Amino acid sequence: MKNFWTSLKKPILIQAPMEDVTDTVFRQIIARCGKPDVFFTEFTNVEGMCSKGRDKVGKRLKFTDIEHPIVAQIWGNNPKNYFETAKLIRLRGFDGIDINMGCPEKSVVKKGSCAALINNHALAKEIILATREGASGLPVSVKTRIGIKNIQTEKWARFLLGLNLDCLIIHGRTAAEMSDVPAHWDEIGKVVKLRDAMKVKTLIIGNGDVKSLDDAMEKYKRYKVDGIMIGRGIFDNLWIYNKSINPASISYQEKLKLLITHITLFDKTWGKTKNFSIMKKFYKIYISGPLRQSFSEASMPNASNVRTELMKFQNAKETLEFLKTKN
Ligand SMILES: Cc1cc2nc3c(=O)[nH]c(=O)nc-3n(C[C@H](O)[C@H](O)[C@H](O)COP(=O)(O)O)c2cc1C
Repeated sequence: MKNFWTSLKKPILIQAPMEDVTDTVFRQIIARCGKPDVFFTEFTNVEGMCSKGRDKVGKRLKFTDIEHPIVAQIWGNNPKNYFETAKLIRLRGFDGIDINMGCPEKSVVKKGSCAALINNHALAKEIILATREGASGLPVSVKTRIGIKNIQTEKWARFLLGLNLDCLIIHGRTAAEMSDVPAHWDEIGKVVKLRDAMKVKTLIIGNGDVKSLDDAMEKYKRYKVDGIMIGRGIFDNLWIYNKSINPASISYQEKLKLLITHITLFDKTWGKTKNFSIMKKFYKIYISGPLRQSFSEASMPNASNVRTELMKFQNAKETLEFLKTKN
C-alpha cells in the first residue's frame, strides 16, 4: 500500500485534531477556504470502537472525499482494541492512523492512556505494534508531547524513533504545561537532530502556537522539521492554508454566508445526533468586530451584539432565520 506521507511536498501543513471542533463538517469548511496537506479526525477511543457503542463512537470517523488525505486519530490502552480498530479504519478508506500519546486531560491520563504513555514505554510499544499489525500497510504516526511533568524529549523521542514510525508529531509542551506556556520549539528542533543522528526515516512535524503561514515557514526553516501542524491558528484565520487570500479582504457578508453554510452542513450531517450548542463556539470565527486584527477591514457592525443574540437560539432553523436578516 502507498504511504501518502512520503508523497507530500515539504513543508507538510497539517490541520491539528481538535475535539468537538475539527469534525467532518468543519474540515469541509476549511477545505473550501484553503486546504491543508493533511487532515486528522478528532481522537477516537479504541475501547469504544470495540464495544456495543461502536456506531456512536464511530461518528468521529465520518469523512468525505474532499478531506483526503485524512488520518484517523485513536486513543485507549488495550493493544487488542488498537489492532481491531486499525483494521476497521483501514476498511473505511483512511490514508493513515495516528496514535494520541499527548492528550493531558486528567480523565484520560488517569486511565493510563494518551500522555500517560510517555512514562510507560512497554505499553506504548505494544500499542504501536498492534496498530501497525491491524493497519496492515497503512502508515502509522504518533502525536505526542515532550514529557509529562518535566521535559524529557530525548529519552521519549529516542524510544519512539526506534520504532520506525512513518511520522512523529511533536507538540512542544509537557502534559503539565497544558497550553499555558509558549511551546518549546527548541525541543522540537532537538528531535529532528536526534532523528538525523539515528538515521531513521520518520518524518518530524512540529506543533504549537503557529498562527500564520509565514510563521510556519519560519519555523520550518529554523527547526528543520518536515512540516507544521496548526491547531488554534484556524480560529484566527480560516484561510490560513491559502497563500493567495488575505483574510482582511474577505467581507463580513462573505463570512456570514460561510457561517450559514457551516450551520446548514452541521444540521444536515448531524441532525439531532450532536448537540447544536457545539456550533456556538464557531460564531466568533465568522462574526468578528474591529478588535480582531486579522479581520479589521472586514468586521461586522455590532459584531458582539449579533453574537450575543445568536447564543439564544438552540437549533439550526432559528439560527439560520436570524442570520438571514443580517445579510
Ligand atoms: C479544543 C481543542 C481540542 C483538542 N483536541 C485534540 C485531539 O482530539 N487530539 C489531539 O491530538 N490533540 C488535540 N488538541 C491539541 C491540538 O491538536 C494541538 O496539539 C494544540 O492545540 C497545540 O497546537 P496549537 O498551538 O497550534 O493550537 C486539542 C486542542 C484544542 C484547543
